[in-house]
Amino acid sequence: MTKVLIATVKPFAPIAVEGIKKILDDAGFQIALLEKYSSQDELISAVSDVDAIIFRSDSIDKEVIDAGKNLKILVRAGAGYDNVDLEAATAKGICVMNTPGQNSNAVAELGIGMMILMNRNRFNGTAGTELRGKKFGLQAYGHIGKIMGHIGKGLGMELYAHDPYIDKVIIENDGVKYSESVKDLYKTCQYIATNLPANEKTKACVNYELLSVMPKGATLVNTARKEIIDEKSLVKMFEERPDFRYITDTAPDCKDILTEKYPDRYFATPKKMGAQTAEANINAGLAAARQIVGYIKNGNTTFKVN
Ligand code: 3PG
Repeated sequence: MTKVLIATVKPFAPIAVEGIKKILDDAGFQIALLEKYSSQDELISAVSDVDAIIFRSDSIDKEVIDAGKNLKILVRAGAGYDNVDLEAATAKGICVMNTPGQNSNAVAELGIGMMILMNRNRFNGTAGTELRGKKFGLQAYGHIGKIMGHIGKGLGMELYAHDPYIDKVIIENDGVKYSESVKDLYKTCQYIATNLPANEKTKACVNYELLSVMPKGATLVNTARKEIIDEKSLVKMFEERPDFRYITDTAPDCKDILTEKYPDRYFATPKKMGAQTAEANINAGLAAARQIVGYIKNGNTTFKVN
């Protein structure tokens, strides 16, 4: 019998787990649940007899992959799969998938919510600023960038985007101005949202060269991974520009310096929580379960990333 492990240090909402179980149950699959585990060893022993894993930001490293002797498919219930050792999975013929777009609305809402929180001085009663009329740049125009743009437009912001993989016409058709280069985007926009995947190409790509050209009131909003930000440049910006703010869902390694020296201009969620809504858990979790059933029963490889 096919056995599927749901491995989530950060558990899905119970309603999502119920939905996942129903899909797997209907397919005749056996289910194992490992939530809120505290050591990688627990994950390693839980994978020994499973055919598939549904996971989130959990680390699916070589050790986990090697321990899963029956593994056939790994599905990241979410977008970013930088937490999976793709090479190790591919070497063993294991299919890796993600569930793109399924949690994007939650992430976009959090990004905009954090911008409002900071513009209103964390609701401390002092006079803040508004987003209306401000220039908002989307670095990457994928699922999340598109939704952030849509919400930003509703708030009366002026939208710009740059994405080397999306055609200018598609961006302009959404009423978003196209920036010819990423530097142009940073030069134009007071607010920049980074929605890039973390990989070798994007590592530390948000650097001083880009940040330093931002107009007065520069605010960087990062709902992606900390790795895409060059932290030396980030600290330098805080030191040199009293107007610069950094808002993020993934605290940087230099978080202690920023919290201590620039508490009013830096905000990080206590725990990565962009995708942590019942809706996003349901969308991504159920999609992951369906993709596993589709792959095991019919060989469907849609959303395969390796
Ligand atoms: C993603 O890559 O989908 C998001 O970063 C969400 O991650 P999470 O499932 O760990 O909350």
